[in-house]
Amino acid sequence: MRCGATLAAMNERLYTDLTGWYLLLDPTEDHHEEATVFAAALRSAVVGDCATLLELGAGAGNNAHFLRDSFACTLVDASPDMLALSAARLPDCAHLLGDMRTLRLDRLFDAVLIHDALSYLCASADLDATARTEAVHLRPGGAAVLSPDCVRESFVETCDLHAADDGDRALRTMEWAFDPDPSDSEFRTDYSFALRRGAKVEVVHDHHRCGLFSVAEWVACLQGAGLIVELRPRPLEGIEPPHGYWDQLLLARKPMESM
Ligand SMILES: C[S@@+](CC[C@H](N)C(=O)[O-])C[C@H]1O[C@@H](n2cnc3c(N)ncnc32)[C@H](O)[C@@H]1O
Repeated sequence: MRCGATLAAMNERLYTDLTGWYLLLDPTEDHHEEATVFAAALRSAVVGDCATLLELGAGAGNNAHFLRDSFACTLVDASPDMLALSAARLPDCAHLLGDMRTLRLDRLFDAVLIHDALSYLCASADLDATARTEAVHLRPGGAAVLSPDCVRESFVETCDLHAADDGDRALRTMEWAFDPDPSDSEFRTDYSFALRRGAKVEVVHDHHRCGLFSVAEWVACLQGAGLIVELRPRPLEGIEPPHGYWDQLLLARKPMESM
């Protein structure tokens, strides 16, 4: 099912023809601690029942894998391939094709989560539109967690190597994040994937456009959507410096008196 007026154009090969390799690059078990922190932040902020969760840009379902026992999860993603991967793994969650900037489900949730998919918002208008989507889908007293991988204050150029094996398949990756023009709101992440099946190795380049915004810009877009914002610590265990990750997350509450 497709929801929302427009859908982001999926130019990233990781979310199209390379989705079958995604879990070798980003294994589910790496998300346990973070998902636990997201759930605790939501439970501490939501007034009343905290039972229904909408995740935007849910990808392969690595957060929902740990959240689905405590929340009825609705997972939205703009990539049909990522959505299919998640739906095959998490058949007990609802899956919907949609763009976080334009999605309108005509339904309210206790909680909304957006994790690293926030990296793909490249213009401040995208931030504002996504904040509106969150506000529109939260019931009064509900709360949202937004966890951008990095903010302008935390960004540093990085080059990381990843390796994972799965039977006769193996993946070796160089992930290079850099900012060619610090005066604009974007940086680049370029991936060089070496994909091995048996004795055959294919090398693929994948280019991702990512957004870079200050903490003040994130807070302002959420406040502009009528949400009350606070910052909470985000665990970065296992991530060794130098890295550009932001060690906080945004917790946004919808006031009880709204709507
Ligand atoms: C890094 S992956 C998410 C991974 C997810 N946290 C997980 O661990 O499975 C980013 C996801 O954001 C999705 N995405 C990018 N832009 C989007 C948009 N505008 N609306 C919805 N999803 C989007 C991509 O299709 C991709 O699945």
